Amino acid sequence: MASKHILIVPGDGIGQEVTAVGKQVLNKIAAKFGHTFTYDEALIGHVAIEATGNPLPDESLKKMRKSDAVLFGAVGHPKYDNDPSAKVRPEQGLLKMRKELGLYANLRPIKLFDELLDASSIRPEILKGADILFFRELTGDIYFGEKGRKNDGDTAYDIAEYSRYEVERIARKAFDAARTRRKKLCSVDKANVIETSRLWREVVQKVALDYPDVEVEHQFVDATAMLLIKDPRRFDVVVTANLFGDILTDEASQIAGSMGMLASASIGDGTGVYEPIHGSAHDITGKGVANPLASILSAALLLDISFGLKAESDAVISAVDQVLKAGFRTRDIANSQTPADKILGTAAIGEEVL
Ligand code: NAI
Ligand code: MG
Repeated sequence: MASKHILIVPGDGIGQEVTAVGKQVLNKIAAKFGHTFTYDEALIGHVAIEATGNPLPDESLKKMRKSDAVLFGAVGHPKYDNDPSAKVRPEQGLLKMRKELGLYANLRPIKLFDELLDASSIRPEILKGADILFFRELTGDIYFGEKGRKNDGDTAYDIAEYSRYEVERIARKAFDAARTRRKKLCSVDKANVIETSRLWREVVQKVALDYPDVEVEHQFVDATAMLLIKDPRRFDVVVTANLFGDILTDEASQIAGSMGMLASASIGDGTGVYEPIHGSAHDITGKGVANPLASILSAALLLDISFGLKAESDAVISAVDQVLKAGFRTRDIANSQTPADKILGTAAIGEEVL
């Protein structure tokens, strides 16, 4: 029986609402399978700035390092979105967490539950069977390079940087995963224009020599954006840089029906962090309608990847599947045919999963 310490880091907005449900599911798993999970909480984002002036207080970081895994929500607040000049921002906490914990690989499975074929705006016959695993590089690129203003603030710049080492380690992770799946890897870049992309392609081509059993293709990011919705089934594992991965996976959420369905695992050198791909969603915060399934599925990834508890992870995924099969939906995955009494709020659909 496993004994594990889990840090709950809800952050802002609906992060608070969905993470509470993710934690309940972890608790239920512990009880059902006889494990001992202990918990602590830590601040990040806007709530951390309000309490301490710091989007990632040292105490939070210390707790993360000491935990066996982190279940994270989201950061963000409209106050900063509408004030681009704000110097201290919630996202700084998120980027610092990723950098400090060395979380260079962000795994985003795009898995369509069959029951949600009609939840997407894409036609069912194009979607059916789509199953993609994104590897988004998470600690490099334009997000972490030097940024600033010049010419009295009239010119802004962001520097994108990648080292050979950074590209190689994420590429290897993606190739390893492809080996356990359909043995296809698509590397996405913009090597016709961008220098970091040229290095990216060069390194991936080199790593590919060690994986002769994996079929490799290189696509430009603009073409990939189109192919993702034209023919999502052509993709198996996709590996790409931080910025491209951020954008492409929001797009890919429509393959799975909603942002509220997509979980992710951020792994690398330190404690693994598990989080929905969505943000703090101010437009629905406090209404009790946020879809907690992304947080629940993030808890499933946590059980599998950080704790090696595959049966427990599968039990969570199967519970989600059964709830969808029973016809229950949150608002974001309902359609005009969904009966009103099957459309549940955050807590109620969480209860069904439990
Ligand atoms: P968002 O992902 O928060 O929301 C986009 C849209 O999807 C909204 O219409 C929202 O209502 C819907 N949505 C998202 N998650 C949902 C869920 N679980 N259930 C139902 N509907 C859901 O992105 P947005 O609106 O661009 O940004 C809001 C804030 O979140 C900003 O402050 C942004 O900086 C921050 N953000 C934080 C991220 C993180 O912490 N990882 C990632 C993306 C944005
Ligand atoms: Mg994003």
